Amino acid sequence: MPQPESIASPQRVDIRLGDRSYPILIGAGLLGDPSQFDAVPAAASALIVTNTTVSPIYAEALQKTLAGRFRTIHVLELPDGEAHKDWPTLNLVFDALLQQGSDRKTVLFALGGGVVGDMTGFAAASYMRGVPFVQVPTTLLAQVDSSVGGKTAINHPLGKNMIGAFYQPQLVLCDLATLATLPARELSAGLAEVIKYGPIYDMAFFDWIEANIDALMARDPAALAHAVRRSCEIKAEVVGQDERETGLRAILNFGHTFGHAIESGLGYGEWLHGEAVGCGMVMAAQLSQRLGGVDAAFVQRLTTLVERAGLPTVAPKLGAERYLELMRVDKKSEAGEIRFVLIDKPGSAVMRPAPDALVREVLAHCGGA
Ligand code: NAD
Ligand code: GLY
Repeated sequence: MPQPESIASPQRVDIRLGDRSYPILIGAGLLGDPSQFDAVPAAASALIVTNTTVSPIYAEALQKTLAGRFRTIHVLELPDGEAHKDWPTLNLVFDALLQQGSDRKTVLFALGGGVVGDMTGFAAASYMRGVPFVQVPTTLLAQVDSSVGGKTAINHPLGKNMIGAFYQPQLVLCDLATLATLPARELSAGLAEVIKYGPIYDMAFFDWIEANIDALMARDPAALAHAVRRSCEIKAEVVGQDERETGLRAILNFGHTFGHAIESGLGYGEWLHGEAVGCGMVMAAQLSQRLGGVDAAFVQRLTTLVERAGLPTVAPKLGAERYLELMRVDKKSEAGEIRFVLIDKPGSAVMRPAPDALVREVLAHCGGA
């Protein structure tokens, strides 16, 4: 594991959900500091769930850091990739828990990106009807979005994230030093979810991302720290008001209706989740423009920023009918009607249906039809 220069005291953002509240700690080198895990409940055993890529870099360090807290700590390596976010892989977690005699207090640690985090969270929600878990996100995407807020899931061949549960972790620990080993394509994918917070919630943050996109792409530590912190603050504000997505939380799915169709239409793992979201945001912005929420200049601004983040803005050619069919399976659909998260003015989003004719126009314009 790369050594951090120093373990500065972490920044803290709180998720406020009554008795399900928890801290998000953000800083470089946290993973090697036992005191950062004081929010973890006491137990005899722990299971670190990770994957074949992340494990050789970080699992031993985490195991060592946690050694004083548990009598036994096992490590489970799952196969890597979105294509493995499925039942057979999830079952490997239950196999390990049962084989190791895990009890109701056993703590699960999700060490990895959003795929490991979503699956470990779902396993924690289900094993013995719920055991504690901790998110240790190691991708930018997971640090700014997926580890926070308690959405857990696996994919179904017919739809993305269709099987899952809302289940909050006890702690989220974002070690910024882990971003040093992230492949460039994954860094870009994470930036999609950072950019997302601007159009839907905070245009001042959007201005900041525009001004700092080169520093973010160059992994400037101060820029990454600010991006992670502000993203977590916004997510905490939204989730704190609407944990189970009965309304406001849906805005966090900006770009995801088109994006999920790209992911499942191409086959999971072909485009990264963040790449699909990046392109999906451009498509959703174009739909917003057609419905009068934003002007062409705004769409161009977003498109340019998505491109500067190294993300695609031309949609894969799946055909308009296929897109419409895939988007009807989205969780936001009601009675077969697709509902999109659209920008009603810069910095503010709403969820609403859109006429098929306009969706087809967007698909044709973006290359998808
Ligand atoms: P990922 O988990 O597949 O990780 C990306 C790749 O980076 C993997 O190959 C992984 O092994 C590798 N990796 C992880 N950390 C690394 C590190 N520090 N150094 C080197 N390699 C590293 O993908 P992701 O982008 O983190 O997450 C995407 C998933 O998150 C999707 O399944 C998406 O649906 C989900 N998601 C969930 C939520 C939520 O609220 N639960 C929100 C957004 C996305
Ligand atoms: N990433 C969307 C959400 O957490 O609601």
